[in-house]
Amino acid sequence: MDELDPADGDDEETPPNMARVFDYNLGGTENLEVDREFSVEVDAMMPGMSALCRDHRSFSRAVVDHWCAEGIDQFLELGSGLPTVDHVHTRSRRVHPDARVAYVDWDPRTVEHARRLVAGHEGVSVLHADAGDAAAVLAAPEVRDVLDLSRPVGLLAVGVLHYLHDDALAARAVRAYTDALAPGSGFAISHLTSVGRPDIHAWATMNHGGWSYAPRLRGPVEMTPWLDGWAVVGPGWVSAPDWRPQGPAPGAEVTGSGLWGVVARRG
Ligand SMILES: C[S@@+](CC[C@H](N)C(=O)[O-])C[C@H]1O[C@@H](n2cnc3c(N)ncnc32)[C@H](O)[C@@H]1O
Repeated sequence: MDELDPADGDDEETPPNMARVFDYNLGGTENLEVDREFSVEVDAMMPGMSALCRDHRSFSRAVVDHWCAEGIDQFLELGSGLPTVDHVHTRSRRVHPDARVAYVDWDPRTVEHARRLVAGHEGVSVLHADAGDAAAVLAAPEVRDVLDLSRPVGLLAVGVLHYLHDDALAARAVRAYTDALAPGSGFAISHLTSVGRPDIHAWATMNHGGWSYAPRLRGPVEMTPWLDGWAVVGPGWVSAPDWRPQGPAPGAEVTGSGLWGVVARRG
């Protein structure tokens, strides 16, 4: 992988970038001083923010491992951030060396950086697009040329659907993705909730130097219809970092992580 180019702008003109903050919290090296400072400041205002990054990643690792064991060898990740720290292409290629991965992110700097990181990795692409525009994502060459949609695909929506505030748009987008996937495909969601974490409500009003984070909080009541026609795999709706194929019994409450996680399979 390329090293982060300091010319990327490690100076006071460069604003922090969420994907790099995420990388920092995962122990990665693809971040700048401005991201590290920002992360520490935000974590002080919203305790648990940094842990969320690790919780998302625990979930996606468990899901990718599960799918690889099931024979899935191609993946579409919406809201991918930077593909660092044992992310989907690295993780899956341990099992399927030719695994194919299409990453999608809407932030131009993240996409530019991610493309540098995967340059030279045959079968791995990074698409600049809004995950809410499923038609554009599914028609893009970065997806069409990399994934064979007539075969099973693992669709990851890890920490991204809560950025789609409009419920109707989110439902339409999810339906378009899930309808486009072949039988045997998988769909995994991790999504912020305030159940068990009432403090997350306060995040919606937080403003740090012009940066705000106001996720749309949803729970199984709102999201279960997204899985119509798909069979839930493993434990059902659980605290995302705890998800395993034979994971914990589903609970009425998500405790601790503030993230719902669920995995489903198209029959
Ligand atoms: C919390 S990070 C998740 C990173 C990644 N899924 C992972 O597990 O490491 C969210 C990412 O989603 C991207 N994002 C947010 N809204 C998006 C949208 N509507 N379409 C595409 N990407 C989006 C952000 O730019 C950011 O990189």
